[in-house]
Amino acid sequence: MAGVDVLLGLQWGDEGKGKIVDVICPNYKMVARFQGGPNAGHTLEFNGQKHVLNTIPSGIFNKNTVNLIGNGVVIDPVVVKREITNLIAAGNNPLETGMLWVGKKAHLILPTHKFLDAASEQLMGDNKIGSTLRGISPTYQDKIGRRGLRVGDILSKNFKEKYQKLVDRHTLLLRQMNFEFDLAPVEAEWFEALEMLKQLKFVDSEHEVNNFLKAGKKVLAEGAQGTLLDIDFGSYPFVTSSNTTTAGACTGLGVAPNTIDKVFGIFKAYCTRVGSGPFPTELLGELGEKIRVLGGEKGATTGRPRRCGWIDLPALKYAIMLNGVTDLIMTKGDVLSGFDTIMACTHYMVDGEKIDYMPHDLCEGDVKPVYKEIKGWQADLTGMRKKEDLPETVMDYVEFLEKELNVRISWVSVGPDREQTITM
Ligand code: GDP
Ligand code: IMO
Ligand code: MG
Repeated sequence: MAGVDVLLGLQWGDEGKGKIVDVICPNYKMVARFQGGPNAGHTLEFNGQKHVLNTIPSGIFNKNTVNLIGNGVVIDPVVVKREITNLIAAGNNPLETGMLWVGKKAHLILPTHKFLDAASEQLMGDNKIGSTLRGISPTYQDKIGRRGLRVGDILSKNFKEKYQKLVDRHTLLLRQMNFEFDLAPVEAEWFEALEMLKQLKFVDSEHEVNNFLKAGKKVLAEGAQGTLLDIDFGSYPFVTSSNTTTAGACTGLGVAPNTIDKVFGIFKAYCTRVGSGPFPTELLGELGEKIRVLGGEKGATTGRPRRCGWIDLPALKYAIMLNGVTDLIMTKGDVLSGFDTIMACTHYMVDGEKIDYMPHDLCEGDVKPVYKEIKGWQADLTGMRKKEDLPETVMDYVEFLEKELNVRISWVSVGPDREQTITM
């Protein structure tokens, strides 16, 4: 019996999950996305080309790996069609390879879910979540409300009726919210895209995954978003609508907790966040802008500028605890080259009290980071390929983090390309 390894983000998303899944996927027979939807943007780079995936797992460029969109994912057929079209243009046609499978229990994002997402944000005004407007929250609401449409329904005789019933409900809600919308063109596009989705292999994914494990084939579960965006444990209400943590891999794929083997927790050498919500170590001035520019910190999905700040150790410790992280992966250390000193938040001052854990509500009270100053590094790391190449100052930072976090850092990424990855 093989196990499931999980790779997920420990911060607010965009830690570099896509890149690392692409690097390690040759070790797996299957890569499976377990939650989230096209709110995700996972970037892969190799042979001088950049690819952004939203729904399709990041193992798709490996010929020998099955890529599964699991039951916990929410799927917009229009986005999947665009992703497949891009893959075809890159010479990798998943309609022909048969290596892209879709779980029948995954829920569908309807065009009206996107309208509802926009309507909700509009109503919230200044308090908006800063959602990606991809219809994620309304789709998960319908799932929990037990009225959602699933991929398997597409094959049912009364699919159109089920679709219409849900759209009627959404229309009523949108009118109550005074939201103006034009459904006809986006609905036509959606049904057209459904035809392409139907060409993929629809599977009872929980059985498929467990059969892989029984046959001794290792599975990698690919997370989306990050731990601090988890619906239960993130910076609520400024979170996404799924469980982004290891437990989400169990419900999102139908695998038992005791099948989970390694948990790879990925984090940036600093920290970023897109959208609204608390971010204790955020740098609002020139320094934040400098990291944003050097790190190319712009959303892969929405193009929005990412907020930047220093690494937050209490938040990372919390994420490691929640996920049972066995191995850490640090990305974007190359971005910090040239800083005389960098800062690491080791504690928070909350209403005058020094604590080393995340308070239950980051929005409440006055949360101020307490920093340790660390010597920066000047060398360009992007050409380095071996641990021995890394400057002593980088190794000091790695060792400091390992000691604070009590987990080994197994890989350090020094650039966006597949090759720019160092085994520690
Ligand atoms: P994901 O959502 O976790 O897959 O991450 P994104 O793809 O949204 O954002 C990560 C960005 O950083 C992408 O543009 C990657 O190409 C890039 N990237 C990943 N790892 C590194 C790294 O180690 N250094 C640098 N400079 N860029 C990286
Ligand atoms: P990847 O997988 C960064 C953020 C949004 C918003 C909040 C809720 O690329 O790391 P939603 O559309 O999910 O209702 O938005 O979550 N968010 C992400 N931030 N990376 C992501 O995905 C994100 N997916 C959602 O910006 O603040
Ligand atoms: Mg991303």
